[in-house]
Amino acid sequence: MKTPKICKTRAELKAAIAEANPESLGFVPTMGALHEGHGSLFSVAREENELVVISIFVNELQFNDAGDYSRYPRQLDADVQLAAQAGVDIIFAPAPVEVYQAGLPLIRLSSGRMGELYEGASRPGHFDGMLAVVAKLLHLADPRQGQYRAYFGQKDAQQVVLIRRMVADLDYPVQLRSVPIVRSEKGLALSSRNALLSAEEKEAALVLHRAISLIADRAARNEPLNVEDAVGMFQMEPLVELDYFTVVDPNTLEELAFNCQDTPFTGQGLILVAATVGKVRLIDNQPIGD
Ligand code: PAF
Repeated sequence: MKTPKICKTRAELKAAIAEANPESLGFVPTMGALHEGHGSLFSVAREENELVVISIFVNELQFNDAGDYSRYPRQLDADVQLAAQAGVDIIFAPAPVEVYQAGLPLIRLSSGRMGELYEGASRPGHFDGMLAVVAKLLHLADPRQGQYRAYFGQKDAQQVVLIRRMVADLDYPVQLRSVPIVRSEKGLALSSRNALLSAEEKEAALVLHRAISLIADRAARNEPLNVEDAVGMFQMEPLVELDYFTVVDPNTLEELAFNCQDTPFTGQGLILVAATVGKVRLIDNQPIGD
């Protein structure tokens, strides 16, 4: 097992990429506290690229609460271990001043309406802050020649849609890949938050996947989705409080009201769900259609 090269500065990262001179580079931005879900992103990047670069950077701009930002786990040694096991070549682990060299940016990207819906409704400004750092990191890891691919987890579906849009709108020369959600045997989407659930809550949380599967199966048969049936499943689970369950257009995040009622489902959609189980907020999703 090879230990990844750790770069703390932009100059070190640039030099390490130039030295490798890869035909293809796979970049996976993260905030550290790495787990199996990240591991699957690294593995896909490893299969598809000559050089795999990840970043570990806790981005102040995407936290609504200063306390959450300071409490966010920082565990570089453990992260390096996991990255090494997944075959990562380079870890970019900069200090905030290295990323925001001119101070926190005065010119900001706006995620617009798409950033205010769903997760954005409970975390105002989160997606603008996320885009601010992803926009910079995509520049910093850009190999300037050869194939350039960036990998994001489908678990954060709204984030993926917004980054896709930013890359298209701002003409970033990078191919985006969203890597499917990793699930427990029973179907629970893997998340570091699952560790905070009791055994009983974990069982109750399976309703997210059951409800998604009900609607995804109907979509696969081109039946009307009747999303209300999925919403009803949450009412049977006293430990689970539903925030939203909806089917949206995967490019605009606008609700597919027409497809969700009594007309046969056609085209594409994205099922999105968020719910609180005990004290833990969970999200899940599934693309449906062609
Ligand atoms: O998904 C994350 O971990 C973060 O939002 C990202 C993409 C690394 C930006 O800070």
